[in-house]
Amino acid sequence: MIEVKNLVKTFPGRGGMLKQKPVQAVKGVDFSIPDAGAVAFIGESGCGKTTIGRILTGLETYDSGEILYNGVNLTDLPAAERLERLRKVQLIQQDPYAALNPSHTIYQTMMAPLTFEAKRQKKPKAWMEQRAREVLELVGLNPNVVFGKYPHMLSGGQRQRVVVARALTVDPDVLVADEAVSMIDVSLRLGILNLLFNLREKYGIALLFITHDVAAARYVGQDGHIYVIYQGEVVEQGVTDELIQSPVHPYTQALLSAVPVLRGLESPGADRYIPLGEFTQEESTACRFAPRCRHAVDRCRTEKPAEQIWPGDQDHRHTCHFPTPRRVVAEPLEVKPS
Ligand SMILES: Nc1ncnc2c1ncn2[C@@H]1O[C@H](COP(=O)(O)OP(=O)(O)O)[C@@H](O)[C@H]1O
Ligand SMILES: [Mg+2]
Repeated sequence: MIEVKNLVKTFPGRGGMLKQKPVQAVKGVDFSIPDAGAVAFIGESGCGKTTIGRILTGLETYDSGEILYNGVNLTDLPAAERLERLRKVQLIQQDPYAALNPSHTIYQTMMAPLTFEAKRQKKPKAWMEQRAREVLELVGLNPNVVFGKYPHMLSGGQRQRVVVARALTVDPDVLVADEAVSMIDVSLRLGILNLLFNLREKYGIALLFITHDVAAARYVGQDGHIYVIYQGEVVEQGVTDELIQSPVHPYTQALLSAVPVLRGLESPGADRYIPLGEFTQEESTACRFAPRCRHAVDRCRTEKPAEQIWPGDQDHRHTCHFPTPRRVVAEPLEVKPS
């Protein structure tokens, strides 16, 4: 079980002649990932999803907040120990080609983390190859066929399976899948989604599924929890199906309404659903979504809404002054630019 409280991350402005302002990528986010649970983050590009995923896998530092891993507060631990624990949280990134060394065979690719793991667990050499075979089979690849191959000799789907297999070598508690299927051919996507789903079902590996693709989030997180993220803040959350069927925050509604892919999984990939409008990272004393919200009134532009529980459903929370269930239609919704 992972519990994250009030996580904050600011990137310094990129330097140079045109010194940019710092970017507050994550502005006090709370979430939890139950053992063997499925959690999805949805939100458009730039809202901070990847940053949270990278923090959780130890690839990025954070400014403040707490990460509790099985009750232990990682923030209090020395860096080395924190990273040691976070090895059990493995990241699957968007582009499997970039994640694999092109000059290494799949055998070499698998041996790299296993050499480390064998040392750690004091296992004999023979264990390494046996373990590599085991995890490749788990992800649906035949070790005898792929061991001698280079990444370019495999399909995108097979490459992503290798990346998943490599993550499995450390016997992870959680897989963080960051847009893990967006670069994969549509025909192969379902296979990868099913793989992630099955790893969770069969082996109890929790899944944090980060995506702009609501249909995919719904598919892998059927009995899970969705967090809708807008500009580094959670604006709505709830049990997957309930949230998708009855969102009350206009941003969630805008996201969902413009997703024709909800009918199937034939996602067009790119950010087609994005309602147009100003996207600022400024400090705000108002609702951050107000400039783009077609329902915004004066109060939204002056007073920041606190998180509230939707009556009758403890799990369903939102930050909107005027939460309103609206029927979500599968066609693009106009959001007025400010
Ligand atoms: N290393 C970095 N340095 C500076 N800004 C960054 C860095 N990484 C991300 N950002 C900024 O933080 C914000 C959130 O980015 P990111 O977490 O990648 O969002 P998402 O994954 O939702 O698209 C963006 O404004 C992005 O430009
Ligand atoms: Mg991202």
